[in-house]
Amino acid sequence: MANLAITSYKFLAMDPIANPYTPNAGSRPPELAGREGQLEQFAVLVGRLRAGRTEQSMIVRGLRGVGKTVLLNAFENQAEAAGFLTFYHELTPDSNLIEVLARDCERALERLSLGAGLGARIRAALEHLRTITLTGPEGFGIAVDLGDADEGTITEDLTDLFLQLGAAARERERGVAVFLDELQHVEEVHYRSLISALHRATQKELPIAVAAAALPQIPFLSGEARSYAERLFDFPVIGNLEREAATSALIDPARRQGVDYSAAALELALEWTAGYPFYVQQLGKHAWNIAARSPIGVAVIEQAIPAAQASLDRSIYEVRYQRATAGERRYMRAMAELGDGPYRSGLVAEGWGGSVTSASPTRQQLLAKGLIYATEDYGFIDFTVPRFAEFMRRA
Ligand SMILES: Nc1ncnc2c1ncn2[C@@H]1O[C@H](COP(=O)(O)OP(=O)(O)OP(=O)(O)O)[C@@H](O)[C@H]1O
Ligand SMILES: [Mg+2]
Repeated sequence: MANLAITSYKFLAMDPIANPYTPNAGSRPPELAGREGQLEQFAVLVGRLRAGRTEQSMIVRGLRGVGKTVLLNAFENQAEAAGFLTFYHELTPDSNLIEVLARDCERALERLSLGAGLGARIRAALEHLRTITLTGPEGFGIAVDLGDADEGTITEDLTDLFLQLGAAARERERGVAVFLDELQHVEEVHYRSLISALHRATQKELPIAVAAAALPQIPFLSGEARSYAERLFDFPVIGNLEREAATSALIDPARRQGVDYSAAALELALEWTAGYPFYVQQLGKHAWNIAARSPIGVAVIEQAIPAAQASLDRSIYEVRYQRATAGERRYMRAMAELGDGPYRSGLVAEGWGGSVTSASPTRQQLLAKGLIYATEDYGFIDFTVPRFAEFMRRA
């Protein structure tokens, strides 16, 4: 009887309903592995802002599927737990960052429930803004009309809004944290305004933080804005999980339900996933569903790999491939045929059958679609999704 009880427990543990893995964009993994450094850095940031000190905020950069969104969500939870009012946005090519931020300021001012005195003071201080109008008799309704306002005007208005909001938050012993995912879509002018406004708020030691995530290429900044940005933000790059983190990402969620992996199964899984978080989740999911009992053995992983690959092809590679035109696909194939990236644009153009100049429009379109990016080394490009080259060679 005792035996039967154990067997049925194990059977239940492998139930697909109990499957702990999360191979979906932005879903919080059961084990946020290998990001202790970034979480600690953000905890310090929040703590220092609360204490009236200043600290660099963070723009996390990384390729598709390495875990930027889940990390940003974890930051948001940390900020919330520390009593910050938080706002989260995923930017798109159509987003207007100034409108997004003004809207957040509006909601933050509301949620701070300012008394009549402080409320009136802030309204008076914001009356002269040109692109942002306060509406409504009582509250802080905000209407944004950038019209053809120049960068200087937009920046001044946003700065004043930040300064008033920051002062109000400080008075109420709160903080405000804005999280911007997919920051690479931001318009450069708006990005510069944000940086100037945040820079002023930081000088005044106000509790406003902006943390973001982006693909490796964020808008190029020059001159003054660049040196502000470098003082205001740290730009940590996240990538594939190290061996130890990949191991706990795979085995800890199962172990919590009494399921183990054999040593050989773990080895094969680590090798195949190469620590890429999306691969870890997808493989874990399939292995769990295929396995009949614990420990999960090497035969299960061998069977799970093609199934996981097919799911990954459908969920992350094919959708992107579909977005490319025939000409763009030909260019990507020329990249993939050179092996794994990064690739020298000149060599890709050669394989594609033209010159750098004639290939340039196609390359430009692929950059605009976010399928490839220009790496830090001048003249080099790579795919934004890890192992895209493998997919192209397979497809
Ligand atoms: N630290 C981690 N440990 C384990 N799994 C993770 C980790 N980070 C992310 N994942 C998993 O990896 C997948 C991708 O995560 P996420 O969507 O956050 O990536 P992303 O970098 O935002 O991708 P994209 O650029 O496409 O938006 C999800 O399935 C998530 O559960
Ligand atoms: Mg994301």
